[in-house]
Amino acid sequence: MTTADYVEKIPNNVSLREDRRLQRALEVWQPNFLTWWDAMGPTLPTRDVYLRTAISVDRDGWALFDHVPMRDYRWGIFLAEREADRRIAFGQHKGDPAWQQVPGEYRASLQRLIVIQGDTEPASVEQQRNLGATAPSLYDLRNLLQVNVEEGRHLWAMVYLLHAFFGREGREEAEMLLHRHSGSLESPRILGAFNEETPDWLSFFMFTYFTDRDGKYQLGTLKESAFDPLARTCSFMLKEESHHMFVGLSGVERVVERTAQVMREHDTDNVSAHGVIPLPTIQKYLNFHFSVSLDLFGGETSTNVGNYFTAGLKGRWAEERRKDDHQLNDASILVDALVDGDIAQTEVSALLGLNTDLRRAYIADCQNGVDRWNGVLASAGLPQRLSLPHVAFNRKVGAFASVETSPDGIMLSASDWTQSKDQWLPTEVDKAHVRSLMRPVYERGKIASWIAPPHNGINGKPFDYEYVHLA
Ligand SMILES: [Fe+2]
Ligand SMILES: [Fe+2]
Repeated sequence: MTTADYVEKIPNNVSLREDRRLQRALEVWQPNFLTWWDAMGPTLPTRDVYLRTAISVDRDGWALFDHVPMRDYRWGIFLAEREADRRIAFGQHKGDPAWQQVPGEYRASLQRLIVIQGDTEPASVEQQRNLGATAPSLYDLRNLLQVNVEEGRHLWAMVYLLHAFFGREGREEAEMLLHRHSGSLESPRILGAFNEETPDWLSFFMFTYFTDRDGKYQLGTLKESAFDPLARTCSFMLKEESHHMFVGLSGVERVVERTAQVMREHDTDNVSAHGVIPLPTIQKYLNFHFSVSLDLFGGETSTNVGNYFTAGLKGRWAEERRKDDHQLNDASILVDALVDGDIAQTEVSALLGLNTDLRRAYIADCQNGVDRWNGVLASAGLPQRLSLPHVAFNRKVGAFASVETSPDGIMLSASDWTQSKDQWLPTEVDKAHVRSLMRPVYERGKIASWIAPPHNGINGKPFDYEYVHLA
């Protein structure tokens, strides 16, 4: 079960050959996927890329590293190993055997959850498609393309579930996943953050740090699902996802490192003229990406999500490590809210506040990266620090959608907001400066002016390894 079958047209560890109907259906979808990849995937022509490919879902040695032409990447279907006698860990079916099929009463909800998750995967490939043209190094270019092929594989993961368990409707939804496009007016991606542009590499690093991390938390709740194939798919996707967040964490860190270096060298905060990104601009990008990612968690309270939990469709972050009854019938939580026009907290049932619970786990995790970036500033002997803005800042979804606050969470009138927001969110001038630095560096071992080289290469290779052969 664990070793992927690469002899097959569609690599998989789900014994696809034993289900001819499903195999044929997916073989019909496969060329459509490749057509989408050619039309909407990375635009920079490459001969081959040093990529990792999943070969087994075991703890050790799950990936093979090699130079591969991107179009020949073996996108496939990999589920974490099936746990014998897995039991449902929460909700009203707690203690029952996990489901191997979709119960009729939850069919529509499960399909919706899978479609929403699935929609984000190709969306990010579309958002990032032009970044290769301005890669700061071959190392970074390789990381971008690695993230892209894996998001493509995550689409495969969700499409497998739709085809295998949701009949004709599932197949139609799988087609729609290739039909909607990021930023399209007629047929946009489902979630707001996935229709935003990723126009430069600072945005890319912020996206992989903050927005991929939202993905981690969503996958973490689906990994607990009573629907076992979904749980197993998500638990393997999480392994791939951690590299994406590493790209974001280390990417922003290297940007901060380079800026700090130049600030020291020239003894000035005003570093725009020296070919790097000023700290206030980095903070603005952080503010933007953090706040749009918070919106992805939905409203502070949600009846739907409470129902999903009770039904067993979606658990909490680290469900099994929680020390409570895993049903939450009598529990409560304080959620952020507007009370008489002020930012405050109100007590609601824990089921109703599950989005808040997940968002808080996410925010605490985001803070770790900020601490690390601040460590770079501290060791450069600089007094400046980066910080996460207040949960109410720049929100378009949830309790604070109707108000504006400063990054400290001070409520602002509409006119104060209009006057001040350029201090907190990237302006056209900031973006133009960042864009002006985005010139490609494709020479081995060389790197752009605005970012420090990584401390380690990929898979034990040095930084100056030929990670990508351009076409
Ligand atoms: Fe993903
Ligand atoms: Fe990702």
